[in-house]
Amino acid sequence: MEQIKLRGIKKSYGKEMAVQDVDLTVNPGDFLTILGPSGCGKTTLLRAIAGLEEPDEGEIQFGDRIVFSRKQGVIIPPENRNVGFIFQSYALWPHMTVEQNVTLALKEKKLSSAEVESRLKNSLEMVQLETYRKRYPSELSGGQQQRVAVSRLIALQSKILLMDEPLSNLDAKLRTEMRAELKRLHRELEATTVYVTHDQTEALTLSDIVVVMNKGLVMQSGTPYDIYHHPDNIFVAEFIGDPQNNFFKGQIVEKNGQLHLDCQEIVFPMKNRYSSNSRKVIATVRPENINVSFQEQKDWFKVTLKSVQPTGANTILQVKLGTTKITLLQPEFIRMKLGEPLWVSFDPESLNFFDEETGKNLHL
Ligand SMILES: Nc1ncnc2c1ncn2[C@@H]1O[C@H](COP(=O)(O)OP(=O)(O)OP(=O)(O)O)[C@@H](O)[C@H]1O
Ligand SMILES: [Mg+2]
Repeated sequence: MEQIKLRGIKKSYGKEMAVQDVDLTVNPGDFLTILGPSGCGKTTLLRAIAGLEEPDEGEIQFGDRIVFSRKQGVIIPPENRNVGFIFQSYALWPHMTVEQNVTLALKEKKLSSAEVESRLKNSLEMVQLETYRKRYPSELSGGQQQRVAVSRLIALQSKILLMDEPLSNLDAKLRTEMRAELKRLHRELEATTVYVTHDQTEALTLSDIVVVMNKGLVMQSGTPYDIYHHPDNIFVAEFIGDPQNNFFKGQIVEKNGQLHLDCQEIVFPMKNRYSSNSRKVIATVRPENINVSFQEQKDWFKVTLKSVQPTGANTILQVKLGTTKITLLQPEFIRMKLGEPLWVSFDPESLNFFDEETGKNLHL
């Protein structure tokens, strides 16, 4: 198992800064996912780790080995970095059978034929395609082709795996299956893995650490739990979660010696630790963390139902409190008429408060 360490990585294309200044450490054996909107620099960063892209500045280390350093003038080419790489498309050679696709790189490495055969057999077994050896890619389903690409990666036996949206071309059911497969493979191979996706479910389900990027910068790096429940800033609070977080703008006020966030129609309780009165603050609460009652409750807010979207296991409800729109998520199939009243309440523990000016989480 090897550690990957990036320091001060910058890369621009002409005037455009694709990666602005990234420091990142992937602990040995960890599964780290880079998540972010299209164009935020994920692929560029992954290609820099693989050696397919030369950063303008910075340093990249695998364990004790420096593989890139602008200052020291070190640039190790991709073939000498010993990393396994899967691109967004499966990129199998169409004129080669499954076994030829998997063993091509092994033969180039001049491994003995016994070693090639044993790695081929093991890697095809791991993705459950042993019986498909002689088939051509055109004779396989999309998911099977994807698994051949994974198998080729396994056969290389790299200590470092880099994957760029490897499941993006699969349907929803196959994605879920392959996700479980990748998680199992990562456990078995114990390879340090950097995975790129813009699918947050993938990121949250697969990773030890999630890195959220925006415009070439790391916005937050943390466990899936922290990224979801304790976003560092408004960007992460907005980007993570489907349905999205609820946002309420307001001002801090003091009433009876207690601090509150006054959003006019809703007043949120705050723990009494923030001194800056009348500061502009944004409160967020996740749709599933709002208490909902279908009967009247004393001191709860009465809201009106504006839309009902059952997704099967859950229902997304849009409600209005005066002019404030609120999204709720309930873990059941709800059938209700629009315009009916509901009652909601907010627990202080499930709220995050952000400074409106800086966008930073105030951790109140
Ligand atoms: N070879 C290139 N030449 C010029 N600009 C590039 C090149 N590669 C990437 N870019 C630009 O750099 C920025 C980052 O691109 P990158 O491919 O890293 O984004 P990404 O986060 O992987 O996006 P996506 O989710 O769409 O794959 C983009 O604005 C892109 O247009
Ligand atoms: Mg990309």
